Amino acid sequence: MKGIVLAGGLGSRLAPLTRVTNKHLLPVFDEPMVHYPIRTLIGAGITEILIVTGGNSAGDFLKLLRNGKEFGLHRLHYAYQEGEGGIAAALSLAEHFADGEPVCVVLGDNILEESIAPFVKKFRHQGTGAKILLSEVPDPQRFGVPVLEDGQVVRIEEKPSEPKSQYAVIGVYMYDNRVFDIIKTLKPSGRGELEITDVNNAYIEAGDLSWDVIEGWWTDAGTFDSLLKASNLVAELRDRRTV
Ligand code: DAU
Repeated sequence: MKGIVLAGGLGSRLAPLTRVTNKHLLPVFDEPMVHYPIRTLIGAGITEILIVTGGNSAGDFLKLLRNGKEFGLHRLHYAYQEGEGGIAAALSLAEHFADGEPVCVVLGDNILEESIAPFVKKFRHQGTGAKILLSEVPDPQRFGVPVLEDGQVVRIEEKPSEPKSQYAVIGVYMYDNRVFDIIKTLKPSGRGELEITDVNNAYIEAGDLSWDVIEGWWTDAGTFDSLLKASNLVAELRDRRTV
């Protein structure tokens, strides 16, 4: 399985912090944000990793990460997203890199307490289709929200004003290689982006999406509040792990 970190977009919700740099290069406690999703993949045994970036300071990723030696990697792959066409548009740039293999995608601003390794293992056994992970949150209206009926995810709604569950679909997605054909069928949403939620809904319609709830904390870091929260959670985790 190959790993993809999506670190494009303009990070406009964090302006002016993102006026001269890329959101994923900002600090989350003691490390640049992009380090966390890379470690999420490595922690699940995924070592062939593509970073998709774009917007401001794309070249700084190479300066920061180089060949990934400090993560124990021999090399890293890079792709450049023109503009801000959405998460699914950024993922489409990974088709050549995936080369027919399944992929595990992590959004560049997502940080987790727990390892995703058990879920990646389950997806390897699943063989085809897709897997999403859910986390219980106090503010689901900020995220993709699953609609659950009889223990099944029947639909995902993107940032609903009236969420139908307390869960967020977190930014860790596992797909078979059909994902790249699905993206080619998508139309831009109201916000002008190719939405990852539409990709997941296509897998649901095909009866091919599994899901799990991930315990421990999970947060994005794309707003001032969540960036601060992420730093505090990481600081507290470091404290606990050194005791
Ligand atoms: O964090 C999880 C949430 O991420 C999900 O629950 C939502 O369903 C999903 O749509 C997404 O919501 P956001 O609106 O918060 O996504 P955002 O636009 O902040 O993008 C998240 C990351 O995706 C960003 O840090 C980098 C990457 N991205 C985003 C865009 C729009 C790209 O690589 N290229 C892009 O064009």
